[in-house]
Amino acid sequence: MTANPPYLDEKTEIENRVSDLLSRLTLKEKFMLLTSHGRLRLYTTKPIKRLRIPSLKMTDGPLGVAMHSSGFKKNSRFPATVSLAATWNRSLMHDIGIAMAKEVRAVGRHILLAPGINICRTPLNGRTFEYFSEDPYLTKELAIVLVKGIQSQRVAACLKHYAANNQETDRRICSSEVDERTLNEIYLRAFKGVVENADPWAVMTCYNMVNSVYGCENKYLLQDTLLDKWNYDGVVVTDWFASRGVATTEGCMNAGLTLEMPWPSKYKQKALRKAYDEHKFSEDTLNDRVERNLRVMMLTGLFDSPENLPTGQRNTLEHQKLVSRAAEEGMVLLKNKDNLLPLDINSLKRISLHGPNLRKRFGRLLSGGSSAVSPPYEVTPLEGISEKVDGRIELAINDRLKQVFSDVAIVFAGLNHGKGGDTESKDRSSLDLDKKQVEEIKRVANEHQNTVVCVIAGSPIAMDEWIDEVEAVLICWYGGMEAGHAIANILFGDVNPSGKLPLTFPRRLEDSPAHSTGERRNYPGDEEKRVYYDEGVFVGYRWFDQKKIEPLFPFGFGLSYTQFEFSSINVNRQRISKEKDAILLGVDVTNVGERAGSEVIQIYSRDMKASVKRPPRELAGFEKIHLGPEETKTAAITVKAQDLAFFDPKKHDWSIEPGDFKLFVGRSSRDLLGDVDISYG
Ligand code: BGC
Repeated sequence: MTANPPYLDEKTEIENRVSDLLSRLTLKEKFMLLTSHGRLRLYTTKPIKRLRIPSLKMTDGPLGVAMHSSGFKKNSRFPATVSLAATWNRSLMHDIGIAMAKEVRAVGRHILLAPGINICRTPLNGRTFEYFSEDPYLTKELAIVLVKGIQSQRVAACLKHYAANNQETDRRICSSEVDERTLNEIYLRAFKGVVENADPWAVMTCYNMVNSVYGCENKYLLQDTLLDKWNYDGVVVTDWFASRGVATTEGCMNAGLTLEMPWPSKYKQKALRKAYDEHKFSEDTLNDRVERNLRVMMLTGLFDSPENLPTGQRNTLEHQKLVSRAAEEGMVLLKNKDNLLPLDINSLKRISLHGPNLRKRFGRLLSGGSSAVSPPYEVTPLEGISEKVDGRIELAINDRLKQVFSDVAIVFAGLNHGKGGDTESKDRSSLDLDKKQVEEIKRVANEHQNTVVCVIAGSPIAMDEWIDEVEAVLICWYGGMEAGHAIANILFGDVNPSGKLPLTFPRRLEDSPAHSTGERRNYPGDEEKRVYYDEGVFVGYRWFDQKKIEPLFPFGFGLSYTQFEFSSINVNRQRISKEKDAILLGVDVTNVGERAGSEVIQIYSRDMKASVKRPPRELAGFEKIHLGPEETKTAAITVKAQDLAFFDPKKHDWSIEPGDFKLFVGRSSRDLLGDVDISYG
């Protein structure tokens, strides 16, 4: 019996297994490993029998394991990414990563095509629900732990869509025209942070061009930045069919593309062979690209015996509980006049329920696009509330009888992962709810003394038309398969809301940076499909603060059923430097109400004097703490020097200039409760 070759030996170190396998591949086999099966197998690579190389299998993300890419299986539907971001909870994110990865393993896949970490430049972006935030720091902090959670199960996370894929309109043909500082400081920053801190095993390129070069042949983005500057050693995969419009095979190869999906186009055998024979790319380059794919095969255990790999699990009770908890923690209470919420189950007699999302299930095949997860069950708001009240309160559905008195009316408004918005391939056409919904909210508010609007949506909604007429507004996002239970738990006070907006809610579209000029060149692109990011680094709250525009609700905002007071702020040092590169803030927080609850303490930094124009405030730290009634705790928040830096276009690198900074402590980007002065140098 011949001994196993080193690459099949689980005890051999991964890099040695990779180089051993590489050395056994013929040129043709190397080429084969750079693309997929083709035809109908849209998510797998070709196996090579001769060397017992199995197929590397991928599945969408990011709301769990999507049905269309998992052999049409029903899997746990997790809250949408924006909803996870609204939890501002790092450890929860880690647990979610583990749970998602277990579901990936359970369907026999190796790469989860998630998380999506693009920055929300426009609230109209159809995929806002699949991304975290308008802020790179919040995105990075949460994505780092999510990726670590996913990969702890030996499932590869795949950061997408690299980079500046910030709109769906013309996504395959438009070019994001963005200066180097803005590109790095806003749009690449979270990618950099996650690559450097969580070592993701895969990165997906974008459909669009960045400064007139497509993502999958963009040398600046791939080889120069991702591979060289950030030392990334994983797979670089195209978005599906993204390589169709690109110029050349060697352009992709030399730029750093390692895997073309879902069909060979630029990486067809013939095309690769021709370019190779004509010396348009070198053997070293080819080997580097192949090695990256082999590495992720090793890391995800393709050659290892199943008993040595983490076990997969899907649709478990544990996952259901986690989904419910995350959905609850992500909900953001925006308005609560006279403490209408929480509703008292013991004193209410009748609730009337309204709105198009009252009975809606969102997890259907391809609904919303590639992120669609179809769960085995999905609790609608109506089901969640019915179960909660259990016959103790009369529920009147779409009741228009004014003469019958309801204590409270609840309207389930919002979007729907379909024509109404929040879907891949199509941006929203407006920031407003459709006319019918606005009329319904106004009518219900007019007919009832107490009206709550629950917004089920994955992107900001304008509310000026109706918000003054209602008593309470709760942003529920898309809460996954347990959404209905989670909503009922918040409405009836079993859970105290603690979500904070990861996005600014503007009053009007024109208030937001991409739409301020109203010119096509800024959105959705000029005649040549170029989209100019003229606002520069002033994206999201950075823009609203700089221009002194009052948003409808600011970034970081969210109410609770209790109140928190901040007393003292301490720092462990006043000066940071290259050596002492972090500062620890201690903020005393007291829950002065009668209910337990959680608060997010947010730190925003301001560079007091800089050689470039910097935003008035930028998120640089946060911690979420839980406090019982009348309890006081000290929140310990770390601010790292690197998170105070800006990208210096003159040096083509990150820089922190010696000098003074102010650190603001707040409970939103606009509700600042104190500050401390520090210096760097
Ligand atoms: C999406 C990606 C997705 C891929 C595979 C594309 O349309 O942009 O996010 O992972 O399809 O389904």
